[in-house]
Amino acid sequence: MESFEIFVVARALHVIGVVVWIGGVAFVTTVLIPSLKKVANTDDRLALFEQLEGKFSLQAKVSTLLTGVTGYYMLEVMNAWGRYQYLSFWWMHLMTFVWAVFTLVLFVLEPLVLHRWFAQRATENSDSAFTWLHRMHIVLLTLSCIAIVGAMAGAHGL
Ligand code: HEM
Repeated sequence: MESFEIFVVARALHVIGVVVWIGGVAFVTTVLIPSLKKVANTDDRLALFEQLEGKFSLQAKVSTLLTGVTGYYMLEVMNAWGRYQYLSFWWMHLMTFVWAVFTLVLFVLEPLVLHRWFAQRATENSDSAFTWLHRMHIVLLTLSCIAIVGAMAGAHGL
């Protein structure tokens, strides 16, 4: 394969990574958590959440890795590291920031502290724990959507 073709494939894989990952976050934020908040039995609510979000966790890890590796490859090939020095490339900063937050949460915070901490909080006061969880997801989904709009516009000439 020519190096230009590899670059195009990397860009396509980058977008597939984003679609699977942020699409999953959108589902969890707009469908799963609001539905769980309506489950009256709070033990069932926590168990269901752990079962369903646990299943999404591997998918999120793989797609985050794919997005990061292909993004890094594109930056390297385009020799575009200098973009981080300019505010006009704010979407590059935002993309990288969103990636870093999810990577930290998925690979470090969730397995080490968040999982146990949330389960305890949800056992003590389920409604407030799920409201907090929902808010965090809304913030991350909003930032991700702004990054996507900015990156699409920025990469295609705006
Ligand atoms: C370490 C993390 C990341 C790096 C290094 C990275 C890097 C890049 C690079 C170099 C491009 C090509 C820009 C151009 O053609 O001018 C790009 C495009 C793009 N990125 Fe990222 N990215 C990362 C994470 C993300 C995340 C988290 C998202 C979504 C929330 C995202 C969404 C996009 C989109 C939508 C495009 C435009 C694709 C196109 O139509 O060409 N990226 N990224």
